[in-house]
Amino acid sequence: MKEKNDSFIIKGGKKLFGEAYVQTSKNACLPIISSSLLTTEKVKIKDCPDILDVKNMVLMLQKLGVKIDHDGKDLIIDSSGLNNVNLDCELTKTMRSSIFLLGSLLQRFGTIMINTPGGCKIGARPIDIHIDAFKKLGVKVSCLGDCLFFDASRAKANKIHLKLPSVGATENIVQFACLLKGKTEIVNAAKEPEVVDLCNFLSLMGAKILGAGTNKITIYGVDSLHGVEYRPIGDRIVAGTLMTAVALTGGELTLRNANANQNEKLIDILRRMGCQINIKHDIIKVTKSGRLNSIDVVTGYYPEFPTDLQSMLLVLMCLANGESRLQENIFENRFLIKDELIKMGAQIHQIDNRNVLVYGQNELRGCTVQAKDLRGGASLVLAGLVAKGETVVEGIRYIDRGYDHFEDVLNSLGADIKRT
Ligand code: UD1
Repeated sequence: MKEKNDSFIIKGGKKLFGEAYVQTSKNACLPIISSSLLTTEKVKIKDCPDILDVKNMVLMLQKLGVKIDHDGKDLIIDSSGLNNVNLDCELTKTMRSSIFLLGSLLQRFGTIMINTPGGCKIGARPIDIHIDAFKKLGVKVSCLGDCLFFDASRAKANKIHLKLPSVGATENIVQFACLLKGKTEIVNAAKEPEVVDLCNFLSLMGAKILGAGTNKITIYGVDSLHGVEYRPIGDRIVAGTLMTAVALTGGELTLRNANANQNEKLIDILRRMGCQINIKHDIIKVTKSGRLNSIDVVTGYYPEFPTDLQSMLLVLMCLANGESRLQENIFENRFLIKDELIKMGAQIHQIDNRNVLVYGQNELRGCTVQAKDLRGGASLVLAGLVAKGETVVEGIRYIDRGYDHFEDVLNSLGADIKRT
């Protein structure tokens, strides 16, 4: 069992060579697990990743009476015994994905009380868009101390206009509306591949959903959904993390179960930085030697460059030849690794809470750094792979939230990482 205070000790300077299979997507699996509660029949989610966020969600659901088997690979969910809607407050505080349970549990029980959800500390991360959307569907929302109480006894299909294309709010409303009588329309819906995957899963269960992957999703409520077997998409952020790893260290990496279309922006950026990338079906091959070119990058909603790969790009920029600029447009506090990278010798100037200027260096130096969020933590590991000497990354429970045996994957490619 992984301990809370585990660290990684990384001996830098090894090039990466070999093949890796990309795990299934965390951000697709979590709402899919939640949607499994919309039927009392058994659901099998194939190749579910062995990560903390999934484990915590499983724990949370087991406490509600859901039977779940996870053999480290497939997840079999039987929610016929679901008998309780009091979500565990400690768990909902640590995992923002608990908000995704709202749509399915509210649909199943008609009322629900939740604690304000937690997650990585990347910005304020409010839930006003979720709440406004539920209200538009006739759900009554009231505040009781630290908790929110939702009452769907008078819920009715409607047209909802999201003020921002929030991934979570889109997924929540899609889940809720599948079994809501009538036609629900979500305008300014999120277009992320994980939203499409959730809609594909629900459609297989018998839902009627049109427009997934566009900015308008229409859901026609059905009377019931049924059990299915489903393999979620490969994790584009994990694929992107491994691609940036080899871009940093040099070497040659072949990724399987990687959808290049879902990583178009990253592939374009890595090519411009000097990587050679070949694509065939679900295989992406990345080759890199020599110094990286500097680049300017702006994050945005899909299909723009994903905020979840921003911190990996920051590490690349630290070692590129010349000045790079990075603009974060989704979250307002997402340069949490900046100070850790500066300890390693990086030269980063923060212009404001959305913009940084990076002066590329010849090398980074190993030292002890602290992971403070999931993607930032993984990026510090990448920095350690290429730094001179030894890097200790503390706080790797954040990395375990989303990466399935991260150190084993990298070690199989030639890295030298030990968990202590
Ligand atoms: C999901 C992903 C996360 C990713 C993010 C953006 C999961 C489990 N997590 O998070 O990895 O970084 O999409 O691609 O799928 N906002 C509000 N009010 C709300 C909801 C969101 O203002 O009620 C703002 C957020 O603060 C943020 C932006 O909208 O600035 C996008 O957030 P959202 O798309 O909702 O992200 P999550 O679903 O939380």
